[in-house]
Amino acid sequence: MQRFVIHGGKRLEGEITVQGAKNSALPILSAALLCKGESVLENCPRLSDVYAACRILGSLGCRCRLEGTSAVICADAPTAAAVPEGLMQEMRSSIIFMGAMLGRMGTCSLGYPGGCELGPRPIDLHLAALRRMGVRIREEDGILRCTAPGGLHGARIHLALPSVGATENILLAAVMAKGETVITNAAREPEIMDLAAYLNGCGARIEGAGCSTIRVEGVPSLTGCTHRIMPDRIVTATWLAAAAATGGRLRLAGTDAASLESVLDVFEEMGCRCKRGQDSLTVYGGCPLRAVRDIRTMPYPGFPTDAQAVVTVPLCLADGASVIEETVFSDRFRHVDALVKMGADIRIVGRAAVIRGPVTLHGAQVAATDLRGGAAMLTAALAAQGETVLTDIRHIDRGYDSPEQVLRSVGADIVRI
Ligand code: EPZ
Repeated sequence: MQRFVIHGGKRLEGEITVQGAKNSALPILSAALLCKGESVLENCPRLSDVYAACRILGSLGCRCRLEGTSAVICADAPTAAAVPEGLMQEMRSSIIFMGAMLGRMGTCSLGYPGGCELGPRPIDLHLAALRRMGVRIREEDGILRCTAPGGLHGARIHLALPSVGATENILLAAVMAKGETVITNAAREPEIMDLAAYLNGCGARIEGAGCSTIRVEGVPSLTGCTHRIMPDRIVTATWLAAAAATGGRLRLAGTDAASLESVLDVFEEMGCRCKRGQDSLTVYGGCPLRAVRDIRTMPYPGFPTDAQAVVTVPLCLADGASVIEETVFSDRFRHVDALVKMGADIRIVGRAAVIRGPVTLHGAQVAATDLRGGAAMLTAALAAQGETVLTDIRHIDRGYDSPEQVLRSVGADIVRI
């Protein structure tokens, strides 16, 4: 089993080119199943979740190869409409293949998805929406068997919650369905806009992605295109947190500050200067950090739940008490025990973390609990005095492309063993 050994306390200085977004690459890889011809996805990050998505495409009879920083997918002649159970368990995003298989083949069978344990992660909204579009769903021994006997048709769908995954599944099912689909209370995340941009590039007719109401006019077929995956805003937030926590200065190239305003607000309130460039962001740490007003995680454009864990780290070093309330997932503070072991003063009260600072963090032996929790431990290790041994880093590899190389290039002392 691999681990990171980090000797902390080094200021991070220099430039990082931010990787492509995992949460955009994964739905777009499943969307490629809908298209005849070849799709080329540039800026595709090298992540274990991306490898899993490629293996799912392979199991469906498509070709998917990674060439440099691109993924090339050919879905001319899919041969199967069932995702093997082992592959379903590898990640949450495997569920997005449901809409894509139904859109392309009109049938599918698959189990419930795996992924980070953040509390219950039901898929009731996905299933209810697909039923409205003409899909019959039967569950047998934990396997969902779905068919659309009369073909998929458009529908008006109101989501009780602006679920990212449900919005994606509906879009994938709707782009080649008969007639118009209207989604209200749709998720507004930038990754939804990226998925829609790819699908429109392939010939789909989607309007309103990024707004609460999305309209999709079904088309008879789609043809693959070349698309550049958007930069990863959560990885950007992680490197911001690392700069703030180590008192460093990082220029983050190839990123989009506009998608991060709620996060930048918090860093600025903490006392870090954030300079927004055309497609870059420079963060100047090094000033004394201050506690911030209460943070509540919310769907976009609110403060992202995925950035909550990493932002906790500089707040541990800030003067005063800060509160982060987690409203999206019920069990997303599993990293806190490890941070406390490293010297943090954090108390969980209901759905909130109360963080008191400033403390001095020290190295420890800790195990990543989930993707973003693991990233928080990594960030804490960079700021801590002494050595941290971070195990279970497979969680981190799901979302961060070669983080040890990236961090070494800006002065961190980190090795993968
Ligand atoms: C996506 O997960 C992301 N994953 C998550 O990122 C992210 O935390 C989340 O959106 C929220 O932004 C990917 O894009 C691959 P949701 P998703 O459906 O689609 C409830 C990371 O670290 N809900 O928007 O699974 C659900 O329980 C990951 O990169 C239902 O009740 O999130 C949750 O409380 C972790 N019924 C809330 O909605 C449903 O049918 C939001 O979930 C669906 C969701």
